[in-house]
Amino acid sequence: MTTVIEETLVLVKPDGVARNLTGEILRRIEAKGYSLVDLRLVQADRELLAKHYEEHEGKPFYEPLIEFMQSGPTVAIRVAGNRVIEGFRSLAGTTDPTTAAPGTIRGDFGRDWGLKVQQNLVHGSDSVESAERELALWFG
Ligand code: TYD
Ligand code: MG
Repeated sequence: MTTVIEETLVLVKPDGVARNLTGEILRRIEAKGYSLVDLRLVQADRELLAKHYEEHEGKPFYEPLIEFMQSGPTVAIRVAGNRVIEGFRSLAGTTDPTTAAPGTIRGDFGRDWGLKVQQNLVHGSDSVESAERELALWFG
């Protein structure tokens, strides 16, 4: 396979920070062999989150998601590696933590509160275009 060094935006969402899982999540990223390029603790405001989640505006989970993401600090991480965009989403597991595979971050630690937003601990960019857009938002 050809080498494709990419960068992706990983967020440890407020549930992950509150549950002291930041270290565990960083450990998994590093153990996989990806590199931490930049990292910051951010209290996200509505303006930033509206841009970050613009593709989801109008969906039923949008408002609870935006509220939840303001409930505490988020750790934003710029991560680099070969095919890291797809690779981190594989480490994270599928969106719904109830059915995310054991061994993934969401499968091992995520919670589904039903009508409340899914507290699935992490975000990972889903494409090269998303990664560029999101990294510019969170790291300027
Ligand atoms: P999405 O971008 O579809 O998932 P992912 O984070 O895996 O890329 O959705 C963004 C976030 O919105 C998701 O992480 C959790 C929340 N969400 C819900 O609360 N309920 C839902 O039905 C969906 C699809 C997402
Ligand atoms: Mg997404």
